[in-house]
Amino acid sequence: MKNVLVTGGAGFIGSNFIHYILGTRDDIQQVVNYDLLTYAGNLENLADIETDPRYTFVRGDIRDREGVKELFDEYDFDTVVHFAAESHVDRSILEPELFLTTNVVGTQTLLDAAKAHWKLAPEDKYSREYKPGVRYLQVSTDEVYGALGKTGMFTETTPLSPNSPYSASKAGADMVVRAYHETYGLPVNITRCSNNYGPCQFPEKLIPLMIHNALDDKSLPVYGDGMQVRDWLHVHDHCAAICAVLDKGRVGEVYNIGGNNERANLDIVRLILDALDKPESLIAHVQDRPGHDRRYAIDNGKITSELGWKPAYTFEQGMEETIKWYLDHPAWVEHVTSGAYRDYYKRMYRS
Ligand code: NAD
Ligand code: DAU
Repeated sequence: MKNVLVTGGAGFIGSNFIHYILGTRDDIQQVVNYDLLTYAGNLENLADIETDPRYTFVRGDIRDREGVKELFDEYDFDTVVHFAAESHVDRSILEPELFLTTNVVGTQTLLDAAKAHWKLAPEDKYSREYKPGVRYLQVSTDEVYGALGKTGMFTETTPLSPNSPYSASKAGADMVVRAYHETYGLPVNITRCSNNYGPCQFPEKLIPLMIHNALDDKSLPVYGDGMQVRDWLHVHDHCAAICAVLDKGRVGEVYNIGGNNERANLDIVRLILDALDKPESLIAHVQDRPGHDRRYAIDNGKITSELGWKPAYTFEQGMEETIKWYLDHPAWVEHVTSGAYRDYYKRMYRS
């Protein structure tokens, strides 16, 4: 991993990943963050590294074929880590088409560019030879497997059964990645992780939203009975898992990544209220999300036994640090919720 294209690097997980690889690895020569800066992209997440000579930001759309091709020609990437996506289930219910074009067509555009740039005989449809050491990693989600009942866990062989427009678009993208491996021999991996939490998460997702509302003494909207279960993974553990797959993962394989941390939403909301010393009367049960998946749980067996990765964070430690991060960064929260972070881009890149 020397010249790395990170798509969606201004978002929550992508920005944590860029920090993680620049901070922990000595093999990185160049990281290019390619991001459209939608409402979810925030360059303030990367303000502390913007003068690092190994880091470059390029604003662009993964659906822009010409732009993506030029990027490959200019930077000669050996590694692609594809985070860019529309990522919020609730928004996908309101605007499914955007999710399909960004998440499926955007993925195919990247795959075409990687194939064209890496394939040794790009005009030969039977050739499966690629430059040595290249790898495309698709960041997917456990939501592609659908919902579980009270028992059971998702393994890599669980059939895909997505229930929301978001998860359908991610499953569609996974299928295209798989097809490019099977048909063209493109060296790919797919990772499917559970719910991430940690610093720099946009406060539309459960944990930052509840922290933000509780701090403002606003009501905490819990969908339905609040007994839906997610498996929470600290974002730094996710970044370490992606590196393990890039370093040691078998080409063409899918790896599930989970935190071994199943929690009901209501328990998380109560934990946040307790940590911030706020009353439970702030909890407001609201109408449930349409098609709401009841439970997700990840079987980590493959990545732990094959690649030696395992989550380092306990949920208690991760939540304590995360709540502290939001308390210590009121300006970040204020800029994100007011939309002021968009001005940062204009100030920084006005020329
Ligand atoms: P996010 O919404 O915080 O960030 C997405 C980023 O993608 C933003 O910076 C946005 O500007 C960028 N983007 C959107 N459309 C783009 C386009 N057309 N071209 C270029 N950039 C574009 O998302 P996140 O939570 O960091 O998730 C990152 C990835 O991980 C996504 O693929 C998501 O499906 C997956 N994932 C997330 C979680 C989670 O809990 N957050 C869990 C499993 C998988
Ligand atoms: O499982 C991985 C997925 O996790 C990722 O693929 C998605 O990108 C990511 O957004 C996340 O999806 P969820 O729908 O699980 O995350 P969200 O934070 O939106 O919701 C978590 C749970 O909390 C879910 O059961 C819905 C519930 N919820 C959420 C919000 C925003 C509430 O009860 N109230 C809320 O206001």
